[in-house]
Amino acid sequence: MTSDVPHPSPGLSESTLERLAAARHIAVLTGAGMSADSGLPTYRSGPGALWSIAVANEVASACAWREQPLKVWAWYMGMREKVNGSHPNAGHLALARLAESVQVTILTQNVDDLHERACSDRVRHLHGQVRTVVCVHCRQHAPPHADAASLMNCPRCGQRMRPDMVLFNEQLNPEHWAFAQQTVRQSDALLVVGTSAQVFPVASLPVLARRKRKLLVEINPNPTQVTSIADECLRTTAAVGLPWLVDTLLERARAAPAASASRSKP
Ligand code: OAD
Repeated sequence: MTSDVPHPSPGLSESTLERLAAARHIAVLTGAGMSADSGLPTYRSGPGALWSIAVANEVASACAWREQPLKVWAWYMGMREKVNGSHPNAGHLALARLAESVQVTILTQNVDDLHERACSDRVRHLHGQVRTVVCVHCRQHAPPHADAASLMNCPRCGQRMRPDMVLFNEQLNPEHWAFAQQTVRQSDALLVVGTSAQVFPVASLPVLARRKRKLLVEINPNPTQVTSIADECLRTTAAVGLPWLVDTLLERARAAPAASASRSKP
């Protein structure tokens, strides 16, 4: 942790902590900032931001895939290499620990697999992932070869494989999107971590949570589109804010049975 990272103190209000501690199902929406402390760049913030070094339309759009698939493939392979060289940070590990005491469903926009490597088991990738590629014809998934300079054919049907990511001007997988909305509706609280919430439809999930009167908490060192509708914000990084929050909630969960046992003694 560097000294310029804001500490979460004074943290969240007592009423927000109480509501989180009482929650049976917590949904978590994560974005690129979640993995920033693992050394992966975000898209729009900081000096190495991906969309400041490349034009999204040229490397990550449906049109680019049609017209210059090799360029998209090379971009994807570069991303995959960065992900493979990274490790879960304290924030990823904290979310996995939280699932020991409450149902946690992670809806992530990230294409990395750091939540899975931190041992979170309910993770849905709304914008795809870099672990495998997918056949444009038969939808077979396969691990990609590590050659950025050549495209890959499907081991099953021989058609072209493509990155298993949602490109700009493409729809989200409808099943994943339905799952995401359902998760927010069924949860008691939504934590929004490390996303600027500028890309739709995912950016509408916090709005849905607000409409359904769920507790909405943001963890982000900077204000975002979510800030004005959130119940509370922790102005710090994922790797600082999440361990603090999860330790606080787990401590309360441990104390709660002891407190109720001592209350029920004659
Ligand atoms: P952005 O780059 O738009 O936003 C990253 C957010 O993370 C910003 O709000 C930062 O303030 C915050 N942040 C930076 N460092 C952080 C840290 N250490 N801890 C917590 N937060 C931090 O990334 P996304 O919102 O994820 O889509 O972008 C959404 C989508 O836009 C991506 O999934 C991608 C992109 O184009 C596709 O490729 C389809």
